Amino acid sequence: MKVILVGSTGTLGKKVLQQLESAGHRVLTVNRSSGDAQLDMQSAEAVEAFFKKVGAFDALIATSGTAKWGNIGALSGQDYMLGLQSKLMGQVNLVHIGRKYAAEKAVFVLTSGVLAQYPMEGSSSLTMINSAIEGYARAVSLELDQQKIQVVSPGWVKETMEMMGMDSSEGTAASEVATYYLKALTVEESGTVLQVVG
Ligand SMILES: NC(=O)c1ccc[n+]([C@@H]2O[C@H](COP(=O)([O-])OP(=O)(O)OC[C@H]3O[C@@H](n4cnc5c(N)ncnc54)[C@H](OP(=O)(O)O)[C@@H]3O)[C@@H](O)[C@H]2O)c1
Repeated sequence: MKVILVGSTGTLGKKVLQQLESAGHRVLTVNRSSGDAQLDMQSAEAVEAFFKKVGAFDALIATSGTAKWGNIGALSGQDYMLGLQSKLMGQVNLVHIGRKYAAEKAVFVLTSGVLAQYPMEGSSSLTMINSAIEGYARAVSLELDQQKIQVVSPGWVKETMEMMGMDSSEGTAASEVATYYLKALTVEESGTVLQVVG
């Protein structure tokens, strides 16, 4: 398969890249600042230009985008906009624009996160964005004809917890989370959320 991987240098993306290559897929790596192509997925114009250049592809995996953590007293409207523009609209742009260039039976795999189902204090922006991604995928799957869309919802990733100085004993290794992205490429039904269980 020709697979576009947006976010290939991240904690999750690095492992997804390794596993895609081990499985024999041709991977085009895309990030803002490195990779086979540089792209800011927040910019619809840049995304359109990117797909025009790349042409047809069989799958796109997004392990990219960010949103701001923080209690409601600390978050500004601008902080909420960060998640909306980066993690939500960035991934939506990849599907909304990419579908016109993708193969007839292409698969899109987006990333949400466990905070959609299990909110915590400080997660209002992330919970909102993750839930929106899952809702978008469920709804848009009804209109994509033969193309499919799936969402991987990672729990806390061990390496990220270690980076943040948290107890990582309950975390899931990034390599284990990565297996869900490869699994998502073969799921029969469209619009599903693959919950990573640690
Ligand atoms: N790690 C966790 O514990 C965890 C848990 C649940 C959900 N998630 C979700 O999983 C996703 C990946 O997490 P991660 O920890 O692997 O993130 P990460 O280490 O911060 O990596 C993010 C990757 O995305 C790229 N990227 C970011 N913004 C982009 C943009 N606007 N356009 C194109 N590329 C962009 C980055 O490259 P450049 O910097 O070069 O752009 C980088 O390759 C995120 O959406 C995160 O919310 C993570």
